[in-house]
Parts: sequence; C-alpha cells; structure tokens
Amino acid sequence: MSIERTLVLVKPDGVSRNLSGAVLARIEAKGYTLAELKKVDATREQLEQHYAEHAGKPFYEPLVEFMLSGPVVAAIFEGDRVVEGFRALAGTTDPTTAAPGTIRGDFGRDWGLKVQQNLVHGSDSVESAEREIGIWFA
Ligand code: TYD
Ligand code: MG
Repeated sequence: MSIERTLVLVKPDGVSRNLSGAVLARIEAKGYTLAELKKVDATREQLEQHYAEHAGKPFYEPLVEFMLSGPVVAAIFEGDRVVEGFRALAGTTDPTTAAPGTIRGDFGRDWGLKVQQNLVHGSDSVESAEREIGIWFA
C-alpha cells in the first residue's frame, strides 16, 4: 500500500457548468477519501505558484486568465496511489481526445477555444501534490 494525497481542482468551467458534484462523486465512487474541500477565488499569485512549471509557455497567460475567470473548487483526496489514480480518472489533457469514461472525456468538449477548459487539475506526482496542497490549503 502507498497511501498518498493529491490536490484536485475543479476548474472554472467545471464549477460554472455545475459539474463540481459530479466530478467529486466519481472520485469518491472510485474509493478515494475526501480530506479537505473548499470553493476558492484564486489569486494570480496562487496560480503563478501553482503553474510555475509552465511559465513562459504560449498557453501560460491564457491559462492563468482562465483560472481567474471564476471560482474553483479545491479538494485534497487520499488513498492508495491516488496521484496516478486520479490522473487516470481525469483522462488526458485535451478533452476532445480524452478517453470516454474519464472526467475530461465524458464532460469535456471542444468549445472552439482552448485545451485549458478541461474541467479538472490533478497533481502529477507525490512531490507536486505536497507542493500544491501547500499553495491551496496553506
Ligand atoms: P499540463 O500540466 O501539461 O496538463 P495536465 O493538466 O493534464 O497536467 O498543462 C496544464 C494545463 O494547461 C492543462 O490542464 C491545460 C493547459 N494547456 C493548454 O491550454 N495548452 C496546452 O498545449 C497544454 C499542454 C496545456
Ligand atoms: Mg499538469
């Protein structure tokens, strides 16, 4: 067993489309335990820390603006290998091609806009999870 924690964000598209509960329900149904939950109006400072690895990339500024466009739901989930388990539940980054059965594959759609509207964020490693939890649940 490898009990881990991961940071999940329901992004502004997920919150505004009233899908927060559906997303959280899928994670709970998989068997992960909800440890912390809150709705947050993110600050630019938080997002710059959160997405530091992407600073300077072409999609970075639109991504930060998108994340500032409305509230997000932040959660910590716990469980055995939850970091990779949640990434599998979320599906690949582009919602248009994410596998059916995943959160992004089932709820994501091509709005004719950007890949950024892909409903959820999930930490990509145990180290990232601990760093990100510190940003959102300081
Ligand atoms: P990334 O960390 O690569 O994806 P993931 O969320 O699957 O870990 O990228 C962070 C977010 O940036 C991603 O969820 C959506 C957005 N993004 C774009 O808008 N365009 C892109 O080309 C990429 C790679 C990401
Ligand atoms: Mg990522």
